[in-house]
Amino acid sequence: MKKSLLLLAAAALAAQTRAQQPVPAYQIIGRDTTCQIFVYSPGEKDGLHLAYLTDNDHWQDVGQLCASDYAEWGSEKRMHHPYVVHASDGTWRLLFGVNDYSPCFAAAYSEDLVTWRPQDYPRVAEKGVAEPVMFQMDDGTFDIYFKAKDGTRHYVQASEDFRKFTEQPGPSTIEDMAWMRDTATVGGRVQQGNQFDVPKLHLDYIRQYFAAIDRDNELSRETMRDDARRFARIGNNVEATLTVKPAQTKRISDKLLGVFFEDISYAADGGLYAELVQNRDFEYSPADRRGWTATTAWQSNREIRIATDVPLSTANPHYAVLAARDTLYNIGWDSITAAPQSAFDFSVYVRNESGLRNQLLVALVAADGTAVAKGKLKIEGQGWNRYTLPLVVDRKALKGRVRLALTPLKEGQLAVDMVSLFPRETFRGHGLRKDLAEAIAALHPKFVRFPGGCMSHGQGIDNIYHWNQTVGPWQDRTPAPNIWNYHQTRGLGFYEYFQFCEDIGAEPLPVLAAGVPCQNSRCNADGYGGQQGGIPMDQMPAYCQELLNLIEWANGDPATSSWARLRAEAGHPAPFNLKYIGIGNEDIISTAFEERCEMICRAIKERYPHIKVCGTVGPFHDPSPDYVEGWKFAKAHPQLFDMVDEHYYESTGWFMHHQDYYDHYDRTGPQVYLGEWASRSTTHESALVEAMHLCALERNGDVVAMSSYAPLLCKEGHANWNPDMIYFNNDTITALTPSYETQRLWGTYCGDEYVASELAIAPELRYRLAASVVRNTATGKTYLKLVNALPSQLTLTVDGLSIPAGAPVEGFHGQVTDRRVRVERTAAEGPRLVLPPYAVRVIEL
Ligand code: AHR
Repeated sequence: MKKSLLLLAAAALAAQTRAQQPVPAYQIIGRDTTCQIFVYSPGEKDGLHLAYLTDNDHWQDVGQLCASDYAEWGSEKRMHHPYVVHASDGTWRLLFGVNDYSPCFAAAYSEDLVTWRPQDYPRVAEKGVAEPVMFQMDDGTFDIYFKAKDGTRHYVQASEDFRKFTEQPGPSTIEDMAWMRDTATVGGRVQQGNQFDVPKLHLDYIRQYFAAIDRDNELSRETMRDDARRFARIGNNVEATLTVKPAQTKRISDKLLGVFFEDISYAADGGLYAELVQNRDFEYSPADRRGWTATTAWQSNREIRIATDVPLSTANPHYAVLAARDTLYNIGWDSITAAPQSAFDFSVYVRNESGLRNQLLVALVAADGTAVAKGKLKIEGQGWNRYTLPLVVDRKALKGRVRLALTPLKEGQLAVDMVSLFPRETFRGHGLRKDLAEAIAALHPKFVRFPGGCMSHGQGIDNIYHWNQTVGPWQDRTPAPNIWNYHQTRGLGFYEYFQFCEDIGAEPLPVLAAGVPCQNSRCNADGYGGQQGGIPMDQMPAYCQELLNLIEWANGDPATSSWARLRAEAGHPAPFNLKYIGIGNEDIISTAFEERCEMICRAIKERYPHIKVCGTVGPFHDPSPDYVEGWKFAKAHPQLFDMVDEHYYESTGWFMHHQDYYDHYDRTGPQVYLGEWASRSTTHESALVEAMHLCALERNGDVVAMSSYAPLLCKEGHANWNPDMIYFNNDTITALTPSYETQRLWGTYCGDEYVASELAIAPELRYRLAASVVRNTATGKTYLKLVNALPSQLTLTVDGLSIPAGAPVEGFHGQVTDRRVRVERTAAEGPRLVLPPYAVRVIEL
């Protein structure tokens, strides 16, 4: 519908438009079937709006067509002086200024005025581009003029497809007339903008589009908290029939549910990575967080001396220097908890600066000064040496908070770095926190995506995650600021991620940058924000090679590959058998992105054709510009993309009303990895709608290959994002959310074959029920999953599937506002199933 209207409108207009000279693009068509529209921006944060002239001759605003996507949220994303041209091919072109200090302006393209191609930010020599205007030439290209801060005028030539922008050297002599705009009074305010005549058909299409979005928003506002009113008349029990059609089956993905791990909200350092010493590398700095320094989380009875002259490793230049009777304390991640008999493993690198024999007293010290565990290290020789010490807490000690204390006992200077304390017991002995790793393993994830999220593409080009900087000895890993405003030691690096996947039987799914940083990056030193133009093209071959090296590191033979040898030296001679790689994370699908992404994926597919490559389609679902352009890009390159990564965080109402989201997806194109999704609450209501969505994902498991709820972990007091699946503090898991239980049920009871079924119930109640039948062809087990998101009990008759009395049933129910759910294991009583209000059930057959 949208496309055909668009084509009609474009064809009609293409016939009426022509090449333009340096005068504003405004033509009078003068026919009854046309109407006047006006595009303008009511305010720099309001984006581009459209108004039309009503029969009463006043301008009526329709809504926002697009908004600035330049650089950071909050301080940036502003649109100054938008200028629109209706091109000779019927398409629309937009320019605007982004601020008065960046060396760029914004450019966008649209076929229908409604969906705009994600913006490009062409770079120019001048900082602070004001009032860009443009004119189309006879050959289809565009002449762009802008004013610089010093008042000089400049000229940029743009290709007809609006992808290449070339600034001409020197100022331009273009006259003031070029900046003429139209004016219109909208909502009582005089606005400057561009006015056009369009076929009425086109305006109707735009208005219908906005009306459809409004309707969708209205539906998405629905919440179960209003159900008493909404369903006042349905009574305490509703009846429904589920007809299962065993003859109608299809293969579905056996990797449908996995986990998304991102170092966000202290998920890695201070979280899953069991290291108890904070800032063990003395590398904290204001780049991580304002106010942080090399001594953050350290305390001492004297001023702490930090040096860099003889570093343990150039990757970690800072270390502390202790003199006799100095005591250096580490406070851990807000604290370190020790209980009687608990065992820890301490390690440290020490350089004995004076060369004299020395001793280092290592202790865990309670608040009252009592050492609850202690030991001494003999420090001998010169140069950096690693020392280890087991510490066991005194059986008479009380459970409580302790600090780690280091005290040199003799005269002389001791340089210390990589000060580390691990609990003796970690998950499979591999350095991960046991309770958290076990909770993740209990989800039975078929894959683990890492290391993020935004963390993968980073805060600006210099913060892009380079996997090769996260393997090898700790001291040779390069620490980095985390885009979520803290520090990454990289103790949890690619080796540990791969090992964790192996430990829990999940496929590794590394997701790395597509040669561009996060589109929301702040401006760099040069004042260039957002994707910052991407990694310069001349450095892209090296970046592609870096990603090829990852595949070699993970899968290569140590006998022939130096990268594989690194893996073997770290303790894993056998290949990790990497099968998937993600390129890009919800990037703006700009020209800079597309060029780089294609280059990377081509390099991977040429060298490793069997590796499944997953692209990205931006941060929102249909009809967001990145989604539209991302899918277009992926479908244009089916040989490069096996899947694309979709993301959406939505209201519970959105999920209720979009259970058919994937039902009509093209089965011939790349598949879907729903890499980040969640509904926006930590309550039982979310668990219910997510369970319904998982039924829909299973039904579409032939096109949706993978999915992962996000984010996974959040440390109490350090939340960058809510909701999350698992909350924890230093000592324990504080919440396995209702959403966790939904994910666990679907991860545990999964299949590789979908059995069709049909639910019969009063049509107005249908959107509050979901059912899915899957079979595991390896075990022969069938699972029936049911969701009753109604405030009434559901009595369900199941036809076509035998449900013997006694079949195991697992699930939960409760009030929609509950923040915890109690999982119940019961037995079915036969083919007539009774589900309480707001219930999730899985029946094993
Ligand atoms: O999951 C949290 C963040 O959400 C991810 O880092 C990013 O990809 C998305 O915007």
